[in-house]
Amino acid sequence: MTQSTKGAALVTGASTGIGAVYADRLAKRGHDLILVARNTERLEALAARLRAETGVAVDVLTADLTNRADLNRVEQRLASDPAITVLVNNAGLALNGGLLDSTPAELEQLIALNITAPTLLAAAAGRAFVTRKAGVIINIASVLAFAPEMFDGVYSGSKAYVLNLTQGLAASVKDAGVRVQAVLPGATRTEIWERSGKDVDAFPAEWVMEVGPLVDAALVGLDKGETVTIPPLADEGQFTTFNDARLAMQPFLSRRDVAARYLA
Ligand SMILES: NC(=O)c1ccc[n+]([C@@H]2O[C@H](COP(=O)([O-])OP(=O)(O)OC[C@H]3O[C@@H](n4cnc5c(N)ncnc54)[C@H](OP(=O)(O)O)[C@@H]3O)[C@@H](O)[C@H]2O)c1
Repeated sequence: MTQSTKGAALVTGASTGIGAVYADRLAKRGHDLILVARNTERLEALAARLRAETGVAVDVLTADLTNRADLNRVEQRLASDPAITVLVNNAGLALNGGLLDSTPAELEQLIALNITAPTLLAAAAGRAFVTRKAGVIINIASVLAFAPEMFDGVYSGSKAYVLNLTQGLAASVKDAGVRVQAVLPGATRTEIWERSGKDVDAFPAEWVMEVGPLVDAALVGLDKGETVTIPPLADEGQFTTFNDARLAMQPFLSRRDVAARYLA
């Protein structure tokens, strides 16, 4: 592909929903694109539109990220293509049911897409970006990382993992010039709801964000240098208080002595 001065963004789950809007916004910011998902037809249609509207170069990389050979091809692209400056780890799925209602295959599918894939892709991109001392990794988590009681514990747990991974990686690569951001959407109107047998319109209308404003807000958070961006949370102080309390515990979490309340 011809090279944009901003480099290329590799977006997973780019065929629809949040990933498709990231592709649109990053193209409009001047990034070339590498679009990843299973549905080649939808990826090609988006690629054609974005080439025509923005003039950026767009590659389509069809991959099922729950298939290890396909995942390895995407890892290889991240490791070997020096034009890539941005990874958007967005592809994800929710369950039609909770832990106790889902089959082992369904649970493994969620873990493969929501945990294994973003982990291996962040590792491949992170190593390349640290070597080049530049790059941005955006991981799409969820507000359910903070609210396991509101969902099923499996999807929410996968998103808590993504948040934890992001915070750990962000701290370890910040001195190497690499940025890592977790984006925590609330309910957002995309196909993920019908794909997992749910009706997003069953929620009160004021709970559901449209996908355009969600991605635009997430990019404002990125530009502000945030590690954790929560577009629907009106009172930033609620997150700051929560995060400060978490950080304040850290010096006390590993000790030789058992806490007095546990002494028999
Ligand atoms: N919508 C919400 O309310 C909400 C809230 C919080 C967090 N999120 C998170 O936001 C991210 C995007 O979700 P969305 O709402 O935009 O969902 P979506 O509309 O269902 O889109 C999911 C995207 O992932 C791709 N995908 C699904 N399975 C895949 C696989 N095995 N391999 C490769 N790509 C696959 C889909 O494309 P193909 O079918 O073509 O593969 C599609 O492009 C997810 O991580 C989700 O958990 C969403």
